[in-house]
Amino acid sequence: MPNPTIPDELICRLRHAERVAVLTGAGISAESGVPTFRDAVTGLWAHYRPEDLATPEAYARDPQLVWNWYQWRRGLVAQAQPNAGHIALAQLEARFPAWTLITQNVDNLHRRAGSRHVVALHGDIARTLCSVEGIEVADWPADGPVPPRCPHCGAGLRPGVVWFGEDLPHAAIDTAFRAAETCDVFLCVGTSTLVYPAAELPFVAHRHRACVVEINPDETPLSPVADYRLAGPAGVVLPALVEALAMADAVTGQA
Ligand code: APR
Repeated sequence: MPNPTIPDELICRLRHAERVAVLTGAGISAESGVPTFRDAVTGLWAHYRPEDLATPEAYARDPQLVWNWYQWRRGLVAQAQPNAGHIALAQLEARFPAWTLITQNVDNLHRRAGSRHVVALHGDIARTLCSVEGIEVADWPADGPVPPRCPHCGAGLRPGVVWFGEDLPHAAIDTAFRAAETCDVFLCVGTSTLVYPAAELPFVAHRHRACVVEINPDETPLSPVADYRLAGPAGVVLPALVEALAMADAVTGQA
């Protein structure tokens, strides 16, 4: 794919920005081979809807089914590597005095790419919690029941993700909204902006007069509002953004 054009005015806005917030969704991990949530219900799992697998009700109804589905997804995520989009965001972080990377993804690929300030709104699929006490459990016997039992209370274990219908972690959502309200530039990368409350964040930034940039090959409900739409895959557009910033720095002789 040819290098996408990054508008000069956007580069100028970014070079003068002090506070940057980023929201990422499943699209940024698509190029790492992590299927989007909806795409993941294929093959063996084609007969199920996400609501059959990612809700507290689904777990209460059939904990073995839900556990097995997440074990399968954990396997996919464990094999995935951060891509050029993740790496470009980690590189960008170093430029700005205040940077908040908010992700809806549970694959931990941002941290693995080197990002430091990551707000994981929907949790981390590699973590395992007691379904009653919420405490983290690190390991369990391989030949035990499915799902495995909490060593303290005997309840079933569950993945450390936020299911549909569950509250997001308060501290994470507070940090995310504060970042959206106070940033100069908001980058919205690879998300359909359909699932709330995360989908509200770029609109909050827009209302607070931030420059909103959408990076997505497809249009979304955010597109009409975005100040800039960089249509293309995150793994191409984000490295081009990093390169355009570096070239502008070189021209003016400053980082
Ligand atoms: N680069 C950038 N964007 C991409 C790419 C790519 N290479 N490939 C696909 N996209 C875009 C799609 O056009 C779509 O707009 O990524 C978006 C993915 O949308 P969703 O699958 O709805 O993912 P997301 O927005 O993260 O969903 C939010 O909903 O499924 C639940 O809890 C799950 O965290 C998830 C939440």
